Amino acid sequence: MTKEYKRTLITTALPYTNGPVHIGHLAGVYVPADIYARYLRLCGRPVTLIGGSDEHGVPITLKARKEGVTPQDIVDRYHALIKKSFEDLGISFDIYSRTTSDIHHDTASEFFRRLYEKGEFIEKSSEQLYDPEAGQFLADRYVTGECPHCHHQGAYGDQCEACGTSLNATDLIEPRSAITGAVPVLKETKHWYLPLDKWEPALRQWILEGHKEWKTNVYGQCKSWLDMGLQPRAVSRDLSWGVPVPVEGAEGKVLYVWFDAPIGYISNTKELLPDSWETWWKDPDTRIINFIGKDNIVFHCIVFPAMLMAYGDGFQLPDNVPANEFLNLEGDKISTSRNWAVWLHEYLADFPGKQDVLRYVLTANAPETKDNDFTWRDFQARNNNELVAILGNFVNRVVVLTHKYYGGEVPEPGTFEQPDLDAIAEMEQLKASLTENLETFHFREALKDAMGFARLGNKYLQDCEPWKTVKTDPERVKTILYVCAQLCASIDIVMEPFMPFMSERLSAILGGLKPEWSMIGRTDIVPAGTKLGQPELLFEKIDDEAIKAQTDRLEEIKRQNAISSFKPEVQLPEITIDDFAKVDLRIGTVLECEAVPKAKKLLRFVIDDGTPGHRVIVSGIAEHYKPQDLVGRQVLFVANLAPAKIRGVVSQGMILSALNADGSIVVAAPSAPVAPGAQVK
Ligand code: 2FM
Ligand code: ZN
Repeated sequence: MTKEYKRTLITTALPYTNGPVHIGHLAGVYVPADIYARYLRLCGRPVTLIGGSDEHGVPITLKARKEGVTPQDIVDRYHALIKKSFEDLGISFDIYSRTTSDIHHDTASEFFRRLYEKGEFIEKSSEQLYDPEAGQFLADRYVTGECPHCHHQGAYGDQCEACGTSLNATDLIEPRSAITGAVPVLKETKHWYLPLDKWEPALRQWILEGHKEWKTNVYGQCKSWLDMGLQPRAVSRDLSWGVPVPVEGAEGKVLYVWFDAPIGYISNTKELLPDSWETWWKDPDTRIINFIGKDNIVFHCIVFPAMLMAYGDGFQLPDNVPANEFLNLEGDKISTSRNWAVWLHEYLADFPGKQDVLRYVLTANAPETKDNDFTWRDFQARNNNELVAILGNFVNRVVVLTHKYYGGEVPEPGTFEQPDLDAIAEMEQLKASLTENLETFHFREALKDAMGFARLGNKYLQDCEPWKTVKTDPERVKTILYVCAQLCASIDIVMEPFMPFMSERLSAILGGLKPEWSMIGRTDIVPAGTKLGQPELLFEKIDDEAIKAQTDRLEEIKRQNAISSFKPEVQLPEITIDDFAKVDLRIGTVLECEAVPKAKKLLRFVIDDGTPGHRVIVSGIAEHYKPQDLVGRQVLFVANLAPAKIRGVVSQGMILSALNADGSIVVAAPSAPVAPGAQVK
């Protein structure tokens, strides 16, 4: 940043209210934005953090239709849930509002009307997909089909999630209505288009020349869009849910959700600051930063800026758009529809008081330059090995020792010696690197620097060994624990943006410290004589059981997903009743069952088949059952299959089992006890 700005307006992508928020949203947008806002506040720089719910768009109406409720019911439910869970995680929004508010409808309508009156739109009739059964046009996610680029089946009318290409509904191959499944027909309809091509030179200049400092993923995506050539984009839709198009002859039409949503940033600023909002949007001394996920880049860097340029009136463009890549969960893409996510409200219920742990792990592992993976094992390891063992441990040792030697009062220091001066110098270096990383949105690296203070503290304590020195040179220990108290104070400040709950508790322990960024590294933050609070554990270990509960839950979801997406095998060619009659199917009771030596998959059964000799059958289900669990159970078997030698054992038949959708094998069995040897027909 070269220019000195007077204030910073931070916006966070407005999440759709068709479901709760998950760790992917948090890692991508809200945690980094909150870190940045908190950092600026600690620096004493004026900042406003704007958030809110995106309550229009097809995913919401589809969900409402599925549940048989109104779209308003859906957005009311999720807006409340999302708002509350953000608050509980400590996301320090100055406002968290919603796009169904009157102020937003008015602001978005006025925005459209002004562009309309300035002649900034192209009005065009074209043939669009229409569902004759539902009697409505099929915009965006109301239609699915094959992607014309990557041939993924199930691409949406506005985007293919497999290859990321932005689509028009009419591009889809073999489209189908998401409402009725009907094959759509083409029907003429009128819409308003924003000619992005008109703004292409200005956008090129602004981004490609003016913002080479943007993250590579953001700059690269913008460049490729601009190099492909921009096209006019429809900003209205034939839908009933949304902001009505505010001009004559537009009955039954609403603004495209991506036209109204970013205007939500402006509406929410207006709602928060009715008298001064314009300063935050139109004064060139305001720096605007949009935190978003990578799927939102084109809308924030191309479409919304073109809208703002078309509007004019001094609206400022964002100075930076730090978009993150995606976070996966246990190696799989996070998905609301497949319930493959860690939902924030569930995390908060399952791990009460551990908001900071999630904030820490999501930052330490943030998908800043590439997609990353969240795993519960990593979550546990980072908590236990880093937060508990490094940070919590250092603070705890300092507080305990200060209580032990000085009744909890920070002692008066003597002259600083080399280890003290080295520690102070290292704090300076860490502070410089941390500040630079925060300024440039490198939050992972910034967190490493912040943890560097705790690592430094542990090393300093270990090197100085006050528990030994106290016996030989008690005066020196006063200086050591004084320096330690200052280190704790710096940790408190540097960690505030990342882990505000811990920081608040630490401030209380340090006698009511009021963190400010400029204090970091200073040697007089906690004056001698300050009475420290009682030692308390800032972090607790997370045990295997808590982690297992989470991984079990995910396993169960995976199983359910496999079952619900199961596609049965294609049926074999037809057979006659005479063909079937050749197969002698019977019920038997398992008398013995054991593993076949040196054969991972095989079990050897002795089956009571109603004959005095019984029979031996070998079956390849060893990976799915424990032998002892099958003894006494009844099974179905093919009795007249020609005997075959398998690993030295002659198998006299075949036990029937089903291959389940999740890859498990389930032995077929009668629904009630049956005499061994009874035939199945
Ligand atoms: O991708 C999304 O979840 C969108 N609802 C983001 C909108 S950001 C903004 F423009 F409002
Ligand atoms: Zn595709």
